Amino acid sequence: MKPVKVGVLGLGTVGGGTVNVLKRNAAEIARRAGRDIIITRASAKDLDKARICDTTGILVTSNPLDIINDPDIDIVLELIGGAGIVKDYVLQAIANGKHVVTANKSLIALHGNEIFAKASEQGVIVAFEAAVAGGIPIIKAIREGLSGNQIEWLAGIINGTGNFILTEMRDKGRDFADVLAEAQALGYAEADPTFDVEGIDAGHKLTILASIAFGIPLQFEKVYTEGITKITRTDVEYAEELGYRIKHLGIARQTPEGIELRVHPTLIPERRLIANVNGVMNAVLVKGDAVGATLYYGAGAGADPTASAVVADVIDVVRALTSDPENRVPHLAFQADSLADIPVLSADSFKTAYYLRLHAEDKSGVLADVTRILADHDISIEAITQKEPPKGETIVPIIMLTQVTQEHRMNAAIAKIEALATVSGKVNRIRLETLG
Ligand code: NDP
Ligand code: HSE
Repeated sequence: MKPVKVGVLGLGTVGGGTVNVLKRNAAEIARRAGRDIIITRASAKDLDKARICDTTGILVTSNPLDIINDPDIDIVLELIGGAGIVKDYVLQAIANGKHVVTANKSLIALHGNEIFAKASEQGVIVAFEAAVAGGIPIIKAIREGLSGNQIEWLAGIINGTGNFILTEMRDKGRDFADVLAEAQALGYAEADPTFDVEGIDAGHKLTILASIAFGIPLQFEKVYTEGITKITRTDVEYAEELGYRIKHLGIARQTPEGIELRVHPTLIPERRLIANVNGVMNAVLVKGDAVGATLYYGAGAGADPTASAVVADVIDVVRALTSDPENRVPHLAFQADSLADIPVLSADSFKTAYYLRLHAEDKSGVLADVTRILADHDISIEAITQKEPPKGETIVPIIMLTQVTQEHRMNAAIAKIEALATVSGKVNRIRLETLG
C-alpha cells in the first residue's frame, strides 16, 4: 500500500521527539498501521536552530502553509502551540481535507467546538491524545475504554511542570524560580510558563477531559483555576503532619445540580496512590459507575513521552483512513448532536472539605469564637491543632480541617473569622479531597 505522508509543523520538544519516535520505530509502526508512515515535510521558525531530531530526508520550511497546502501531505501534525495563527493553520489544513494530529490543549480547549464541527463537515479526523497528560493515553481510556460507564468524577495531576516544581520544592527545599527554570530547560513548560503555574494549562486539559467524560461542549471559560504560587512550605509541612500531601489537581465532578470544573491546590490523604505521584509524572483517577475507580499514570511532559501519544494518534488516523467518517469514534466521545447542555457550576456551589490556617492571639475564648463562627455556618470541624507560638510571640497558628461544606458557606465564615479582632491577617484556605 502507498505510504502515508506526514507533515510536521514545529520541530521543538514535541515535534523533534515525534520525528525521532516515528523514525526510530518506523518498522514496528508500519506493522501496526498496515502501511509505512513517512515524514516528508516539516516546518520551524528558525531554520538555523540546532534540533533534537535528525531531519535528513525531510524538506524543512519556515512557512507552515507550504505543508498545509501541499496536496501530497495526508496528515498534518500541529506541534507549534498557542491558539492564535495556529487556529487558522488547523482550519486551513481541515479545509484542504487533511487529517490533523495536535498536542495543543489551549487550541482544543478554546476552539475545539468549532474545529471539530469543521472537521466533521470535511470528514477528517482531528486527534489530540497528547494534549492531556503527555504520554498517558487518557483520552483513549475515557473515550473508548470506559465508554460503557457513566463517569461520576475524575481528578488528576495534569501539569508536569507544576508537579515537578512542587516535588522539588518539597523534597529538596529548592527555590520556585530555580525549579521553574529547570522545567523550562527540560522542555516541560509552556511557551508562557504562567500557564503552568497559574493552573491555566491544567484548566485547558480539564476542559477536554470533562467534555469527553460527560458529553458536554468544551467550556474553558467556566473552569475555576487557582495556581501553585501561593502554596507555602508551612502549609506543606502542616498538611504532612496531618497525613496529607498538597497536590495541584484538576477535578471534574458530576453532581445533581451540575458539573464542578476546578483546578486548585488540594490536600489529599497521603495513603492515596495519586498523592505519591512526583516530579514530571502525571496521574488521572477516573471513577465510572460500572468500573469503579481507575488510575492512569505516566510522564506528563517531555519529548519522547509526548511523542508516544502523538504517534499513537497518527497510527489511529492511518487505520481509520479507509473507514466511513460516520462510523468513527466521535471527537469528543459522544455523538456531536448528543452533547448535553448540563450546567457548569460556579465556584460558590462547589462542595469540598477544607484545610484552614489562621493566626490568632494566644488567649482564652479565641478558639471558641472561631469554632462558633464555623458552627453558625453549618461547617463541622474534623480536626483542629494549635501550634506553639514562635519564641517571644503571642500569635499562634491554628490549623483546622473541616468536613465537606459548600464554598459559599466557607467564604462567609472566613470573612467573619478575618473580622475578629483577635485574628490577624488572612485565613489561608486549601481545599481537601479524600478521593475515596
Ligand atoms: P516548542 O517551543 O519546543 O516548539 C514549538 C515549535 O514551533 C518550534 O519548532 C518553533 O520553531 C515552532 N514555531 C513557533 N512559533 C511558530 C510560528 N509562529 N510559526 C511556525 N512555527 C513556529 O514547543 P513544545 O514542543 O514544547 O510544544 C508544542 C505543543 O505541544 C504545544 O501546544 C504544547 O502545549 C504541547 N505540548 C507540549 C508538551 C511538552 O512536554 N513540551 C507536552 C504536551 C503537549 P523554532 O524551533 O524554530 O523556534
Ligand atoms: N507544560 C505542560 C506540562 C506540557 O508541564 O504539563 C504537557 O502538557
